Formats: sequence, C-alpha cells, structure tokens
Amino acid sequence: PPSEKGSGSDADVPKDLAKEIKYIEELFTVDTAKLKQITDHFVKELEKGLSVEGGSIPMNPTWVMGFPTGHETGTFLALDMGGTNLRVCQVTLTDQQSEFDIIQSKYRIPPPLKTGTAEELFEYIADCLLQFIQTHHDDLSQIGRMPLGFTFSYPATQNYIDEGILQRWTKGFDIEGVEGKNVVPMFEAALARRGVPIRLAALINDTTGTLIASAYTDPKMKIGCIFGTGCNAAYMEDCGSIPKLAHLNLPPETPMAINCEWGAFDNEHKVLPRTPYDITIDEDSPRPGQQAFEKMIAGLYLGEIFRLTLVDLHDNHDRRVFVGQDITKLRKPYTLDTSFLSAIEEDSDENLSDIAGLFQNKLNITPNKAERILIKRLAELIGTRAARLSACGVAAICKKKGYKECHVGADGSVFNKYPHFKERGAQALREILDWGEKKDPKEEDPIEILAAEDGSGVGAALIAALTLERVQKGNL
Ligand code: GLC
Repeated sequence: PPSEKGSGSDADVPKDLAKEIKYIEELFTVDTAKLKQITDHFVKELEKGLSVEGGSIPMNPTWVMGFPTGHETGTFLALDMGGTNLRVCQVTLTDQQSEFDIIQSKYRIPPPLKTGTAEELFEYIADCLLQFIQTHHDDLSQIGRMPLGFTFSYPATQNYIDEGILQRWTKGFDIEGVEGKNVVPMFEAALARRGVPIRLAALINDTTGTLIASAYTDPKMKIGCIFGTGCNAAYMEDCGSIPKLAHLNLPPETPMAINCEWGAFDNEHKVLPRTPYDITIDEDSPRPGQQAFEKMIAGLYLGEIFRLTLVDLHDNHDRRVFVGQDITKLRKPYTLDTSFLSAIEEDSDENLSDIAGLFQNKLNITPNKAERILIKRLAELIGTRAARLSACGVAAICKKKGYKECHVGADGSVFNKYPHFKERGAQALREILDWGEKKDPKEEDPIEILAAEDGSGVGAALIAALTLERVQKGNL
C-alpha cells in the first residue's frame, strides 16, 4: 500500500517475512494425525491416573457423587479462588426447577499474594468474605447457618469433601508451607480470627463446579472444562472404574466426579509438540517439569509464548524482525497477557492498524506492514494450537467414557473471550473423531463444547446442597 512507501527506502527493513512466517507455522501447527496421537495417549493417561500406581494426571476423586435433580433449595455462600480473581457469591436455589438468584462481589487477587505467605493469602480471602457479608447482612448469626462452598481451583487430595490437601500450586502460585497440607483449617482459622461463624460444607474445583452447574440446566452435559488462567476438566466416573478407591468398597455403580487435573498431561514429554519457547516457559516457571499441557494452552501462558517467539525472531533467525528498534519493553517476562493476543486477532483491518497501535502503546515498537502480518499470524497460530490441543483432552474423556453424543460445559476467559477459540476447538474435535465435513453449517455436532453455567458460584452452591442432603441421609 502507498502508505508503506516511506519506510521502503530503508534497505534493512524486509518487505516480506515469508521465511519467518513459514518457520513459526511449522513450529506451531498441529495436524490431524498428531491430534489423534495425542488423544490416544491421553486416554491411557486418564486410565493410569485412576489406577493404584497413578500416573502424571492426578485424576482426583472429589466426593461429588451425583448430578443435581434441579429441585435443590436453600441459600448458600460460594467463594471462588481462581487464578486471577476472588469472587464471593450468595446463591439462592429456588424450588422452581433449575432457577437461582445470585448476588456477588469480585476482587482482583493482588499479584504479590501469589508468592507471599499462606497467612497473607487466607487473611485476604477472609477479609473479602467479611466485607461481602457486612455489605449484605446486618446479622452475622444469619450467616452462620449458610453453608459455604469453597472453590479452590488447584490440585487437591480429598479424603472427604470438606478437606483439600494441596498437591502442588499451579497457575504461577508459589506459597511456601501449603503443599501437602489441608487448606481448610487455614481458611477457617482466618475466619475465626474475624469472628465470622461460617462452616465450610464443601471444597470444590472449578471444573467440578462447572460440570454440576451445567448439568443442572442441561442434562446432556457430561464434562465440565475450564479454559482460563489454567486449563482443566472434570467428568463423572463410576466408582467401579476407579481402582484407587477399591479399598473403600463403594458400590461399583456409584457416581464420583473426577477432577482430572489434566494440566499435568504429558509432564514426561512423550507426545506434546513443544517448541523451544514452551521449554523456556517451563524452565523459568516456579514449578519446572509440571503442568506441561496447561503451559501450552492456558491464558496465563499464551502471551508469554508469543513474546518469547518475537524476541527470538528479533535476536536470531537472520535478525529481520524489528530491525533497529528498541525492544527493551518486549524483553520483560509476562508483560503481555492473553487479552493482548485477543486484540491482535481481532484486527481485521487490511492495514492491521490496530496492531500498530497496540505495539506502539504497550511496547514502544513500530512494526512495519510485514511485521504486522507476522504478528497477526503468530497470534493466530498460538491461539489455534491452544484450541486444538484442548480438544484432545475433551476427545479423550469422550473416548474413555464411550460418549458418542454429549454436551461439554466450558468456562474461563480464554473460552469466553478469545476470538475463534470455540470454532477452532470444534474443528479439531471433528478431525479427531472423524465426523467428516458438516453438510449444513447450522447442524449440531455430536459433541458440542458450550458456554457453561457459573460453576464456582451456582455449581459450588449446588455441591454444598448435594453434600448436606447426603449427610442428612447418612450416605457418605
Ligand atoms: C489449574 C488448576 C486446576 C484448575 C485449572 C483451571 O489447572 O490446577 O485445579 O481447575 O487451573 O482453573
């Protein structure tokens, strides 16, 4: 375009980065055969995780033992500690089938808390909860009767539903003295110090909450997934297929929701097509060697994969990208979050002028047209790879369970906000499961990944309700 002519006088600035684009395409593209290979390995790993010996995917039994009927009632508190935000909700389940009221407050977890002390973290959580209660209730004794569902979305061992022994921190959290310990007493102690008379009824994972909340309004829902700061899924297993619970002699047909913690898939690096940038992310993370799958897919990492690739293209590979530009800002780890990639992908202007603005404002870099094309392609490749790899996990659970037709409830910032994530995931499922081309674009796929109900609010309340019901029946 004529507007580009000005910079054309500089012989150092390439007009065409075809070679670099080809390089990133080869690096980040995952073809159908590879997707199938990953899925088959995934099925085996899901099974291993349920065995007595265990595997790399934890496959944690959650003591959520059945789906809601839609007739659950009562008022519950729900506390959601995700990777980025903290949310407090009060959920009232009404006797109208599958209807509820919710009031809620959201707080951003201050980043230093993620690597601070356990006490600081739980004090902060308790303060948010107290603030919520004070805003909405005059009488603390009312609260004492409200059961609380605590969505603690990290891998945890549960011998009971109101226990959560942290296996390891994920999503960039690194707080000493919590791994290997039950977090519930830490939380309750912080509440007690504030004189808040709350009892925790259930500790849940966000994926389990998503599964239950989605099944509450849609009985075809069989899997709950989170594609957000982290990436994970839960589904309902039969106790008879969980060898590691055999010693409890539960009736084999008893349902048990399993929190897969599939972020840990392929920690031993057997199948995932990791790039040098994935390896750097892992090595520089607080927990090297862990969450291999999650580190290629989740929102916490997509911007960093993108950043590392651009820095490498600038410093190496014939050094034809951002020639003569000061890339100091781009060199800072984790400066770009997934919303930056989303914004790049959303630029459909022929001249890619939004991308120019984004790079100028955030990084003080002025990309030429060829660079803007490369930038857009890179975001597309990283976003597409994330969607396609996640589809392998969904396909694996469906294969393991023999689900030919079902709905999958999904939540999280990447699923809800990242452009084309849903279509790319659906396309990958189609390839993995050999559905062939769609005849009518409006036709439903046999397995559809759909936006879920609010898992850590409504789901947590439902699980608290189901738990109390089970306790009352003496059915633990
Ligand atoms: C991480 C956590 C997992 C959670 C997921 C999504 O993978 O380990 O528990 O479900 O993020 O938030």
